[in-house]
Amino acid sequence: MKDEICRYNQIDPAIEARIDGLLSQMTLDEKVGQLVQMSPHAPIDPEEMMKRIKEAQEAGQPPQRVYHPRPGLDDMIRAGRVGSILNLPDVHWINHYQQLAVRESRLGIPLIVGADVIHGLRTVFPIPLAESCTWDPPLLERAARVAAEEASACGIDWTFAPMVDIARDPRWGRIAEGAGEDTTLGMAMARARVRGFQAGDLASGRRVAACPKHYVAYGAAQAGRDYHTVDISERTLREVYLPPFKAAFDAGAGSVMSSFNEIGGVPATANAFTLRTVLRDEWQWPGMVLSDYDAVKELIPHGIAADLKDAARLGILAGLDMEMASEAYTTHLAALVREGAVPESVVDEAVRRVLRLKLQLGLFEHPYTDEALADQILLRDDFRALALQVACESIVLLKNEGGLLPLSPGEGRIAVIGPLADARHDLLGCWASNGRAEDVESVLDGMAVYLGSSDRLAHVSGCPVKDEGPADIPAAVAAAHEADVVVLVVGESANMSGEARSRSHLGLPGRQQELLDAIAQTDKPIVGVLVTGRPLVIPRMAGQVDALLVAWHGGIRAGRAVADLLFGAAVPSGKLTASWPRTEGQIPVYYAQKSTGRPMEGAGTTQFFEPFKSRYIDEPNDPLFSFGYGLSYTTFDYSDLEVHTPLVDANGTLVVSARVANTGPRAGTEVVQLYVRDLVASVTRPVKELKGFQRVTLQAGEAQTVRFELPADQLGFPGLDMRRVVEPGAFQVWVGPDSAAGLEGHFEVQ
Ligand code: NOJ
Repeated sequence: MKDEICRYNQIDPAIEARIDGLLSQMTLDEKVGQLVQMSPHAPIDPEEMMKRIKEAQEAGQPPQRVYHPRPGLDDMIRAGRVGSILNLPDVHWINHYQQLAVRESRLGIPLIVGADVIHGLRTVFPIPLAESCTWDPPLLERAARVAAEEASACGIDWTFAPMVDIARDPRWGRIAEGAGEDTTLGMAMARARVRGFQAGDLASGRRVAACPKHYVAYGAAQAGRDYHTVDISERTLREVYLPPFKAAFDAGAGSVMSSFNEIGGVPATANAFTLRTVLRDEWQWPGMVLSDYDAVKELIPHGIAADLKDAARLGILAGLDMEMASEAYTTHLAALVREGAVPESVVDEAVRRVLRLKLQLGLFEHPYTDEALADQILLRDDFRALALQVACESIVLLKNEGGLLPLSPGEGRIAVIGPLADARHDLLGCWASNGRAEDVESVLDGMAVYLGSSDRLAHVSGCPVKDEGPADIPAAVAAAHEADVVVLVVGESANMSGEARSRSHLGLPGRQQELLDAIAQTDKPIVGVLVTGRPLVIPRMAGQVDALLVAWHGGIRAGRAVADLLFGAAVPSGKLTASWPRTEGQIPVYYAQKSTGRPMEGAGTTQFFEPFKSRYIDEPNDPLFSFGYGLSYTTFDYSDLEVHTPLVDANGTLVVSARVANTGPRAGTEVVQLYVRDLVASVTRPVKELKGFQRVTLQAGEAQTVRFELPADQLGFPGLDMRRVVEPGAFQVWVGPDSAAGLEGHFEVQ
């Protein structure tokens, strides 16, 4: 299958016939076994676990991954009681378990080995939120493909990625794992990542399946608290949260992971509406559904299952095919069938979907992984080069007063200050358990490439990231006094974002703001470099620094990427994919908001009565930095907006163009964005919706006409009856540099 993208969202009659053959030979217990994804690790008590995590943190490393096999696992696999294992970072052990399944179980059905390969395995790329700031789907396809190459070389068949949850709440730590706040952008990133993971010509000769997650609306957790209640309308579900999943399936994904949250009273793990009505009846999708970790068992504390058996019954009847970790299916499902509480046909359907994926992956033909491969594949030079490119493109320049950046490597003294200047492990970000600190270039390492061990480069950390150790702010201030410019590297450590890492205060943690306040007193020019897994609330910092780069948790090459941008070897082109609030009190703040009956701007019944508009009395409505925003070292001018189709047929195509000119001193890349607004519809519409984007590279002085062609059906939405409709009427359209600016035009759909 050279150079192809594998599609696991399709039915192949030959494969179905093989499944029929297998099903007809399987005992009920063997069928249930296929629905069991088991952790292969020996149970470890929580105290010991915390101890290991702490030790690893102190050593600046991910938690030690010495493998302790789960007692009894060999026999369970031999007995056909296990269909899948997860997160086992050891190809030798994977081959061992696979051999037991293939050679020693009665029917020889291979295991499918899953793992969290979220933004690279050993070649750790920037966190997905950062990656999305590239607005470069072909690049992210290549990055996902590298992740698949490495995963596959390590015996992994199935990656629990991409996370396609729309996230509009930066308090939620998992905003780090997705593509931000916008559905159209999220769909583009979902497609790209699925295609990359499912590349058909991996060096291992094997394949990897993507598993988009978390189905669904996980990102809408109340108050940004992880695992918390989700209560949204069916309209918002259909319009905002479901489409990235559909996009991932249409790109070929053949599995999905259900989410931990409830949706309007029914946990996603047992939600027949999302799992059956939407996936099967409406979308006719033949893929398989995996639960999240322990989520079947969690139906008990959710309060809809009386006990583990009840949880198993609810899960399987709702359409949940495979259970991750908690052992409701393995313990109770066969009995439920024997007692008549669950029809065997329901189990058969679930098993069919699991076997379908295994057969499509070719696991029956190629169950094993060549153990010599990892050494040749991991961290290959071309992978590291790609990680640098992604890191460079993901960095967002938010401020550059007086053109402070780029700095000149040839002159002046630089004080590099801040607890993250020399950080390695923290640049890996969340979900990088196979990443290694020694593979990472810190910001200081990157700067040393330009300045060598020159005495023009001084480094003082000033304070720890959090309040966990001694600070020496006066030493930092002294270094700043000696310097011509300060590069201040501050932000969040890796373990402050990701799963179960919700924060209610989004400012700089620990004493970092105090450090900045002290440095600001020196009146030296300050370049802020933010290392973070989420949008932060930094109005004070934004006012204090002269230039501001968001470097995110940028992966193994982040430090080099920062240095390349600081010294002008590369030009920033990243743009934000999630709004940066002015204050936590604005959250959720996102550009695609609704107008309300009393909008702040534009026509409204109360437009002359300021106090009675939809507003805060103590802050503006808009965020500090908007969705789509990001600067360059050059400038771009937009002109000549042309709406080529002022009247668009409902099944026609909207054509809009604008001239974009590079009016600054050097070459640069601009992300040109297309937004629309449906002015009057049967249901309220957002004040702006992203409908397209293009990355355009222009030399200094060069101009280009950028043309968008948008099929009019993409102007549709779920109508009053929840069916998709494109309604006739007037629209506004913008072409511009971000969601808060742009040239405006009009068209009408007829
Ligand atoms: C829980 C997380 O929610 C999910 O994203 C992950 O894939 C599983 N654990 C497995 O590690």
